[in-house]
Amino acid sequence: MTDYSSRFPRSFFVTGTDTDVGKTAVSAMLTVGLGAAYWKPVQSGLPADTDSLRQATQLDDSHFIPERFRLTQPLSPHAAAAIDGVQIALTDFQLPATEKPHLIVEGAGGLLVPLNQREMIIDLIRYLNLPVCLVARSGLGTINHTLLSIAQLRRANLPILGVILNGERNLSNREAIRHYGQVPILGELEPLSAINSDTLKEAFNKLEYLS
Ligand SMILES: Nc1ncnc2c1ncn2[C@@H]1O[C@H](COP(=O)(O)OP(=O)(O)OP(=O)(O)O)[C@@H](O)[C@H]1O
Ligand SMILES: [Mg+2]
Repeated sequence: MTDYSSRFPRSFFVTGTDTDVGKTAVSAMLTVGLGAAYWKPVQSGLPADTDSLRQATQLDDSHFIPERFRLTQPLSPHAAAAIDGVQIALTDFQLPATEKPHLIVEGAGGLLVPLNQREMIIDLIRYLNLPVCLVARSGLGTINHTLLSIAQLRRANLPILGVILNGERNLSNREAIRHYGQVPILGELEPLSAINSDTLKEAFNKLEYLS
């Protein structure tokens, strides 16, 4: 476990190839496994990921940093902010301090989700100066989505820690992403019958790094 934990820098950004791809599930597993702090800078709509994660992990409040923006509508942040009459600017964000060994920052949706008229999640990652863990589906369609996200991260010169695949194991897709994307696979999270601290711990302990 110590060995696997050392694969992760102190702070990193969890993004995904899409919305609903499992960023929060993966973040919950990593938060439990790494004893990390968790921060979702922009939340659009309810239930809030921070609350889901708190509920699932049963970790105490010291692991959770309040969102910078909690928007009421379940929309892209640029649209949700407009409805709430809020302006989002990169200068609104500052990497929070934590006493935990790691800080996990979860984005909204994927890399090219707009925050305002000009800037997107990928700009926030660069602004916060964080390396990226990319969560991708394990099944059909993932190769295209994952390689597009990797290409975008490389264009922006953002360091990629690797990919975590969420869903039923798919060896062929995993190897394709490793080969064509030239990225490490940080691990695979299989479907959990229930998401709670025991199942998340067990999943973390099963993670296997494939360079
Ligand atoms: N490995 C898994 N096992 C069981 N359920 C899962 C797993 N991964 C994701 N889910 C469920 O699928 C749904 C979407 O996952 P999740 O909320 O983690 O996606 P997300 O990428 O964080 O979405 P968003 O873009 O809204 O932040 C949730 O209900 C979650 O509990
Ligand atoms: Mg989420």
